[in-house]
Amino acid sequence: MTESAAKVPVDGVAMTAIGVAVIRARESARPDRLYDDPQAAAFVAAARTGFEPGRWARVEAVADQFYEGRTVGVHLVDERFRAAITAGCAQIVLLGAGLDTRAYRMPLPPGTHVFEIDLPELFAFKEPVLAALPATPACHRHVVVSDLRDDWRTPLLAAGFTPSVPTYWVDEGSLGYLNQDWNQRVVRTLTDLSAPGSRFGAACYVVDPDAPQYRDLRRLVAGDQASDPAPITTSQDFDVQSWLDSLGWSTEFHSWNDMTAHLDRPVGPLDPRIGNIAAVRRGR
Ligand SMILES: C[S@@+](CC[C@H](N)C(=O)[O-])C[C@H]1O[C@@H](n2cnc3c(N)ncnc32)[C@H](O)[C@@H]1O
Repeated sequence: MTESAAKVPVDGVAMTAIGVAVIRARESARPDRLYDDPQAAAFVAAARTGFEPGRWARVEAVADQFYEGRTVGVHLVDERFRAAITAGCAQIVLLGAGLDTRAYRMPLPPGTHVFEIDLPELFAFKEPVLAALPATPACHRHVVVSDLRDDWRTPLLAAGFTPSVPTYWVDEGSLGYLNQDWNQRVVRTLTDLSAPGSRFGAACYVVDPDAPQYRDLRRLVAGDQASDPAPITTSQDFDVQSWLDSLGWSTEFHSWNDMTAHLDRPVGPLDPRIGNIAAVRRGR
């Protein structure tokens, strides 16, 4: 496949992955970058050609509004990713992988398997762009074309996922696009598939869905067609930590302020309820 075969998702949730690539490309170009994602710029260049210029300017403007917090978030997931590998997780599953390239850019032990789950329209763009680059995954990379609201367990197992192997499950800005019912179904399924020692990081947001940046994002995702596009789910009205404990995970909450205190970036302080629940699957 060549890059020209790539179909750019110019609306719908798959489009949000392009905004995150814009953020990662911008971070990677900084002399004081927190991480380097060499493929991000290629995704951005390929995506730009598919947008009408005014709409592309809006994608960049929304990425700009989210930049500071989101780019630090990528760095924090990188840290947890490395910690999970060190702790012995030999499988990684990216839930709503988007244009994530950790399968290429992270130092991974040979034998690591990375499974990327996302929608068909996302991979119709991502795979041709990657195929046109001189890039090789640092692991066994598996593309799992699936909707997290459908049966994604069967295609994950068919792709070679092994439930007896400790796994690190990554949700980085994807489960928020599902409603709470679907969110919980996804977590129950990944819990069933998790060997003892598996890890999962659950984001805790305190979001005002009517804040201008969320309104702009929702309008873009909806292709400006719907007047009231689906809200972005937040976990503030549900005790995720107690629920994960009851499902068999040992959990620890880390506030955003604590996680980012050592970074020289303007990202806080924020509401102390914002942060991440680090969950490790207990033995059965
Ligand atoms: C904001 S992007 C984040 C992508 C990636 N995790 C990152 O940080 O770059 C959200 C991603 O979730 C995916 N997504 C949203 N709803 C989904 C669903 N029901 N099934 C599978 N993927 C979904 C979108 O296609 C998109 O790639």
